[in-house]
Amino acid sequence: MTRKRILVVGGTGYLGQHLLQAYSGLPDSPYDLAFTYRSNLPRDLLDAFPGSLAFHVDLQTGGGLDAVSQAFGQPDVVVNCAALSVPRACEADPAATMSINVPSTLLEWLSAFKEANTLLIHLSTDQVYEGVKSFYKEDDETIPVNVYGKSKVAAEQFISKNWSNFAILRSSIIFGPQTISPVPKSLPIQWIDGVLSRGDKAEFFHDEFRCPVYVKDVVTIIQALTSRWISGWLLIVSCFT
Ligand SMILES: NC(=O)c1ccc[n+]([C@@H]2O[C@H](COP(=O)([O-])OP(=O)(O)OC[C@H]3O[C@@H](n4cnc5c(N)ncnc54)[C@H](OP(=O)(O)O)[C@@H]3O)[C@@H](O)[C@H]2O)c1
Repeated sequence: MTRKRILVVGGTGYLGQHLLQAYSGLPDSPYDLAFTYRSNLPRDLLDAFPGSLAFHVDLQTGGGLDAVSQAFGQPDVVVNCAALSVPRACEADPAATMSINVPSTLLEWLSAFKEANTLLIHLSTDQVYEGVKSFYKEDDETIPVNVYGKSKVAAEQFISKNWSNFAILRSSIIFGPQTISPVPKSLPIQWIDGVLSRGDKAEFFHDEFRCPVYVKDVVTIIQALTSRWISGWLLIVSCFT
């Protein structure tokens, strides 16, 4: 069987690194792996995944994607983990948020390949919902209340209009262990642990419903979608956690 290509866009982020770890830890992996970074490429990531290719890509401009085509080729699966993912940062710069979180340059790049046979697995959020009740269903109305949520709804709409093979995962708060190269953003469990171990008090939100999900469960879902797509068994076009 020919080896299949997986590209993790945003491979330096929290979920991206956990995915790379899982894909590269598969025994006799049938996959060639590549990932993208935007700010800088941490040395410890290169050391941890020596068999994978790393590309500098900026989704705001699309810069760097041509180098992926040349050195890696068309991926069979793209997992898009790249985003401005901190809601406070999104409020501060709505224009940048839209241009990064709506993957227009990524889809333009994918559309340039002769055949449209790449599966795009795109990470969305439970913040597409208003957050006033628990256990939203996929077909509940999306009423985002912040810039981050609005950009994710716009991304979902853009993808469904412009690409036929996709799965969108509306994840809630992702928790789990720190990554190989520690990410700069605050992680939920580590933050709570830090507060409690200092004997400090913490204030939590009490006016929204969330369904936190363990990072390795998200990884398992993405890996299942990948292997089903590659074996020809994935018939669905959208999927939500
Ligand atoms: N973590 C959660 O609790 C959670 C919950 C729900 C949904 N999600 C969604 O899941 C996905 C992954 O989340 P995460 O926590 O892993 O995010 P993250 O840690 O913030 O990582 C974001 C990634 O995006 C890259 N990136 C940022 N700006 C970019 C740009 N202009 N062009 C290309 N890449 C860019 C970053 O690259 P550099 O590091 O190199 O700058 C990094 O690799 C996101 O779509 C997020 O919205 C996350």
